[in-house]
Amino acid sequence: MDRGLFITFEGLDGSGKSTQIDKLRSWFEEQGLEVLVTREPGGTSVGEKIRELILDPANTDMTDMTEAYLYAACRAQLVRQSILPALSEGKIVICDRFLDSSVAYQGYGRMMGDTVGDINRPAVEGCIPDMTFLLRVTPDGGHERIEDRPLDRIEMQDMDFHQRTFHGYEEIAKKDPQRVKVIDAYGTIEEIHEQIVSEVRTLLCMDKEQS
Ligand code: TYD
Repeated sequence: MDRGLFITFEGLDGSGKSTQIDKLRSWFEEQGLEVLVTREPGGTSVGEKIRELILDPANTDMTDMTEAYLYAACRAQLVRQSILPALSEGKIVICDRFLDSSVAYQGYGRMMGDTVGDINRPAVEGCIPDMTFLLRVTPDGGHERIEDRPLDRIEMQDMDFHQRTFHGYEEIAKKDPQRVKVIDAYGTIEEIHEQIVSEVRTLLCMDKEQS
């Protein structure tokens, strides 16, 4: 491959992204491809420090605008330090959350609208995923899956915020069905993995080759 492939995973907290990312990474490696798995917010040493700041439940006075800029700052670092170099080396990059998270959580959840796109355009510098898997879980369902662990500052927001974020993801998927593949997150781990692999095979034009 001349340029690698950029795949992102999206969904509400508790949608099971990490499990599916691990399985997809193994699948790619079995095909003999080199994979970089990273995450947002974080993924770089600068980004992990920003992550702590954003998610710390003690930061109750953080303004929505500050939050949006911090996510974008993390992204600017990750794109330049990790994602673009890996793609230019022909690697597969799998990122746990990316720009769509800001559109859904800050744009819809925080009701910041188009400001989020304006802030992020220079941050991503045209680096857009080739394919995005949106693991669809309802706000109630997602919350049930995470309620046994300490919640971060975003997870602690009220149900209305999570409902708006859920709606935001639905809108993102509607606007860009070619890129964003919606997967029902209530299936078994294997069922979900198979759907994801099937979409990836189509993307890589592997359908006509042996499985
Ligand atoms: P995540 O790392 O997925 O949470 P966890 O490690 O607990 O599974 O993401 C942290 C939180 O940040 C999550 O609630 C979603 C939120 N988020 C935004 O609000 N905007 C963004 O742009 C990103 C990347 C994440």
